[in-house]
Amino acid sequence: MAEILIVVGSESGNAHLVAECVRDALARAGHGATLSTGQGCADLRLPDRGVLLVCTSTHGHGDWPDNIAPFVRSLDETRPDLSRLRYGVIALGDRTYRDTFCLAGRRLDEALRRLSATRLGERLEIDACQQPLPDEDALAWLESWTALLNAPAAHHNENNQHEETRRRCPS
Ligand SMILES: Cc1cc2nc3c(=O)[nH]c(=O)nc-3n(C[C@H](O)[C@H](O)[C@H](O)COP(=O)(O)O)c2cc1C
Repeated sequence: MAEILIVVGSESGNAHLVAECVRDALARAGHGATLSTGQGCADLRLPDRGVLLVCTSTHGHGDWPDNIAPFVRSLDETRPDLSRLRYGVIALGDRTYRDTFCLAGRRLDEALRRLSATRLGERLEIDACQQPLPDEDALAWLESWTALLNAPAAHHNENNQHEETRRRCPS
C-alpha cells in the first residue's frame, strides 16, 4: 500500500472537494493519503516522497489558484531532483476557456516531468461545462491510477511520451 501526498489548488472549492473524495477513496482502498494546500516542496520533503497526486483547477487566464502558487514557485526556485517520485494529475477546468483549458494542471504536469518525476497513467482533465460532478470522473480515473501504483515500471506512462489525456468532451 502506498503513502500518497495530494497537493490541492482550488479557488472556489471544486478541486478541494474532489481531492477530499479521492483521499477518502484511497483510504478505503488501504492507502495512506494526506492533503496539502499552500505548502512549498521543501516543507513537504518532496524528493523523499514516493507518490504525489496533484489536484488543481485553473483560474484567471490559465493561472494557478492562489493556494497552489507557493508549491509551484518552490519547484521553480529549488528545482529538486524528483527522479524517485511517481505522480498523477487531476486538472479541473472549463473548455469555454479554450487555449487555457486546464492549463494550470498541464503546466504542473510539465514542471514535474522536467524535474524527472514519472507520471503514472494519463492526466485527467475534467471539463466543468460537461461534468457538473467532477468527483465522479475523478473516482473512475482513480481506479485505473491506483492499479498502476503496484504495476511494474514498464506499465507506467513514462514522462508523457504520449500526451494522451482522458477528456469527457471532445474539442
Ligand atoms: C474567473 C475564472 C477564471 C477561470 N479561468 C479558467 C481557465 O483559464 N481555464 C480553465 O480551464 N478553466 C478556467 N476556469 C474554470 C475553473 O477552473 C472551473 O470552474 C473549476 O471547476 C474551478 O475549480 P475550483 O473551485 O477548485 O477553483 C475559470 C473560472 C473562473 C471563475
